[in-house]
Amino acid sequence: MKSRQIVLASRPHGLPSSENFRFEDRETDSLNDNEVLLKTWYISVDPYMRGRMNDVKSYAASFQIDQPIAGSVVAKVIESKSNSFIEGDTVFGMLPWATYCVEKAEKLRKVDIKSVPPEYYLGILGMPGITAYFGMTEIGKPKKSETVVVSGAAGAVGIVAGQIAKILGSYVVGITGSDEKCKLLKEQFGFDEAINYKTAKSMATAIATVCPKGVDVYFDNVGGEITDAVIANLNFHSRIVICGQISLYNSTEIPMGPRVFPQILTKSILAQGFIVSNYSEHFGEAFAYLAQWISEGKLKYAHTIIHGFDKLPDAFISLFSGKNQGKMLVETK
Ligand SMILES: NC(=O)c1ccc[n+]([C@@H]2O[C@H](COP(=O)([O-])OP(=O)(O)OC[C@H]3O[C@@H](n4cnc5c(N)ncnc54)[C@H](OP(=O)(O)O)[C@@H]3O)[C@@H](O)[C@H]2O)c1
Repeated sequence: MKSRQIVLASRPHGLPSSENFRFEDRETDSLNDNEVLLKTWYISVDPYMRGRMNDVKSYAASFQIDQPIAGSVVAKVIESKSNSFIEGDTVFGMLPWATYCVEKAEKLRKVDIKSVPPEYYLGILGMPGITAYFGMTEIGKPKKSETVVVSGAAGAVGIVAGQIAKILGSYVVGITGSDEKCKLLKEQFGFDEAINYKTAKSMATAIATVCPKGVDVYFDNVGGEITDAVIANLNFHSRIVICGQISLYNSTEIPMGPRVFPQILTKSILAQGFIVSNYSEHFGEAFAYLAQWISEGKLKYAHTIIHGFDKLPDAFISLFSGKNQGKMLVETK
């Protein structure tokens, strides 16, 4: 079977460009026992993949030059030599950015697309939704009527994190990068307030204005100056969920910020970083709660779906300029 794949052509310095990726046409490997031939359907582009483009040791292995980029994919089984899958099954896996591929059955999970759409397994019922669930319930732990601020609020993780805080009875403020996204958060996702960080004159003042009782939980997806401004508004015994630092992912030097530890010290703030895989033994619990809230209509989701395999590099790069509302995906058709 002829397949088109995308490999890492070079490592980016700063913001990635299309030149860091290369398209290649190749034949898929021949199919052996306990393997399936897959046709890629939806491909997830995620900010953490930027770290994998660097040659540094981290929790996720680096992509190798001239080797395919790989990430979360939903695919269709088109031929099977495995007892676990039949032609027509839909599966989830960590798969190469390729239109077709051969994979070992043991590395794939069958997904049910009758009760929820396939793209949910890459978003609200996938890694981003599960991240939001554990970050909010295990670290943030907002109590009823507490004030929760979420940065990167209109993205794949943030949009779920904010709604979970609402379900738990909190007052929720989202920070995001456009008036349109602020409107979306308030009108469709039940956030109490939203701040456009690109137009706010002073973020610290904007946060103080919409959080008159201060901030009890800060779910941080972005880091940098936005986070500095939230920290200035944190209450005694507040919690910071350090989920992501996207504003720094393309930095070539570590920027100097204000020293925040005095605030953390004097206000007895708890700040904890986490990687979703820390909770892998409990993913079933997160999945069950998220699915229940979706079925009860308490949790909604948004996707930005780009059509065409060839658009993958652009879709990935545009995460850093906020082109997405909710989960950014590429549909290969
Ligand atoms: N700890 C974990 O296990 C874990 C798991 C998943 C994700 N994460 C992290 O969580 C964060 C969100 O991930 P996601 O998948 O939900 O991505 P996402 O929010 O769907 O997409 C990225 C968003 O970040 C915002 N952004 C980009 N550059 C920014 C900057 N310089 N300053 C402020 N905002 C910026 C953009 O929205 P605006 O329009 O609002 O700027 C963009 O839409 C990322 O930092 C990611 O690495 C962590």
